[in-house]
Amino acid sequence: MSSEPVDPDVATRQLARASLEQDDATGWFERLYSAAQNGQAVVPWDRGTAHVLLTDWVEVSEPDGAGKSALVVGAGTGWDAELIADSGFDTIAFDISPTAVETAKRAHPNSKATYQVADLLNPPAEWHRAFDLVVEIYTVQALPIPLQPTATRQVGELVRPGGTLLVIAAARDDDTPESAVEGPPWPLTQAAIEAFATDELRLIQLDKSPSPSDPALFRWRAEYLRD
Ligand SMILES: C[S@@+](CC[C@H](N)C(=O)[O-])C[C@H]1O[C@@H](n2cnc3c(N)ncnc32)[C@H](O)[C@@H]1O
Repeated sequence: MSSEPVDPDVATRQLARASLEQDDATGWFERLYSAAQNGQAVVPWDRGTAHVLLTDWVEVSEPDGAGKSALVVGAGTGWDAELIADSGFDTIAFDISPTAVETAKRAHPNSKATYQVADLLNPPAEWHRAFDLVVEIYTVQALPIPLQPTATRQVGELVRPGGTLLVIAAARDDDTPESAVEGPPWPLTQAAIEAFATDELRLIQLDKSPSPSDPALFRWRAEYLRD
């Protein structure tokens, strides 16, 4: 007897909902990666390659990472971190899920990046304003909206003076009410993207582009510079 394959997005949302109902905003990530490791789930955001907007940024900006440090937030299976490490940055990539970290290490056995477990909401003190480049892709939006302001502030606090923050996120219209968003994910409004900026962390470039897989969906790519 054959059973219908379950849409990975639907299965992931069910897992997340069960976790959120227990007031646990992040426990489902480990459960998902662990189920995927056992062949019982698919990680829907695992693209098997770096995000196209990050690849494009690297190709256009040609950052020279020699002698510089980078931190990749919520790095998942590591494809973005690999691109950054290959650009010469001394790269740390972290994730809250130990199995994600293990999976990333296994997927990239010759990696120049260092993969480790850490929580964006409570990062190691020595990371405070420590990195020349911080890359955040789809992590803040994976957290419920009430947690996003704290996560956003923590991301910015990882960037050292003179350093760059690059954020890639799904976009939500400013006039879509929070109650209408059935996350995860909870895409970011323009106000939420602008909220990464502070007096010292300036938004220097903001692009909004349609998703290649669904032109009705839009993504932000935002670049900030810490004075
Ligand atoms: C939607 S996935 C995106 C993964 C990766 N950045 C990408 O674009 O493929 C969100 C990732 O953030 C991680 N994550 C969620 N909350 C986190 C936290 N508080 N600290 C660190 N990582 C977190 C999850 O385990 C997951 O790997």
